[in-house]
Amino acid sequence: MIPDDSQSRYFTSNPTPKALSKHEALVREFVDYHVSTNPNTRIALVTSGGTTVPLENQTVRFIDNFSAGTRGATSAEYFLREGYAVIFLHRQYSLLPYSRHFSHSTNCFLDFMDESGDGEVVVRQEYQQKMRRVLEEYQYAKKNRLLLLLPFTTITEYLFELRSLATLLQPLDSRALFYLAAAVSDFFIPRERMNEHKIQSSEVENGKKSGDGKQLVVNLDPVPKFLTTLVSQWAPRGSMIVSFKLETDPSLLVSKAEQALEKYGHDLVIGNLLTTRKWEVVFVTKGGQERWVRVPKAKRSRSVSGIEELVGRAEKNKPSDEEVDLSGGEVHEGLEIESLIIPELAVLHQERINNGSQRA
Ligand code: PMT
Repeated sequence: MIPDDSQSRYFTSNPTPKALSKHEALVREFVDYHVSTNPNTRIALVTSGGTTVPLENQTVRFIDNFSAGTRGATSAEYFLREGYAVIFLHRQYSLLPYSRHFSHSTNCFLDFMDESGDGEVVVRQEYQQKMRRVLEEYQYAKKNRLLLLLPFTTITEYLFELRSLATLLQPLDSRALFYLAAAVSDFFIPRERMNEHKIQSSEVENGKKSGDGKQLVVNLDPVPKFLTTLVSQWAPRGSMIVSFKLETDPSLLVSKAEQALEKYGHDLVIGNLLTTRKWEVVFVTKGGQERWVRVPKAKRSRSVSGIEELVGRAEKNKPSDEEVDLSGGEVHEGLEIESLIIPELAVLHQERINNGSQRA
């Protein structure tokens, strides 16, 4: 498929990110290293976090979205456990694999530490076990060069990076897996319409509604649908491509996921609702198959923004109260749904590698 005009124009009319060539060199080195040390290596490109839409070229203000990068950072850890090397393309300052356990306001690292009697700083007794496990996994990944962290901020940076990285993963063929968990903006301001400097409040237009009769009117253009081009051109032909579909209305989720699969022609859409995303997701595959992966009730983590009553409400084909427990009977405090998602994906990916199948 040939990219439409809007796609070609996007890359010619928006500036190439400053960090791109450095990131490309890092990815080349990462891919070469893993391909040469292990011919069966599998690399997952995990995208994570939200993209900003700057309102000014010298950016003071921007539009953003809710994503903290929890899905991406958590999934990256489980991919590493499954033996993948991971390229983690993430929104700068969003959650990172491993450090996510001890960062941001909910898990401030200082709360895990204490002063010992003799003036040393130590990890508090109750956190020793968890911190040791996380530290061991982190150090293993680092020592074996299994995790490459690449940050982006804006929608444009994200798209340039995605295009380059997908192309650089060509040597992996079917052993590459794309896991597109980032919450990518659907709208942006083209470079030619963007203010160079900070928008002045004195410059805003006279409007009808606000108190002093002034409004800031921002016109956004749709971001071209690059997923089509990722699937048909950038990504290796045999690679596995998994995208996400986020909705807020339960009645739309499955049909929107099906439409995305149909439209982009990739392998799998994982659907999730904003309010239940930490407890359930739906795998939608070709042929209209809908399979729910759900954290059993007793193992669900608490969530301030989550609405537990909505769990099960988006099911289209088999509405039921039945819970699918894929956790192997292990009892966990707050089981992470990614611990169920990623092993499933690894199996599907391995089948694809074994079958040598390719996208049409
Ligand atoms: O970070 P968390 O707080 O944990 O939240 C996780 C999440 C809800 C953001 C995540 O699970 C999720 O659903 N991510 C995708 C949400 C989304 O933006 O969907 P979409 O319909 O706009 O995009 C569809 C897919 O194409 C996504 O996989 C997206 O990453 C990808 N995409 C979209 C547009 C674009 N220009 N390029 C893309 O790669």
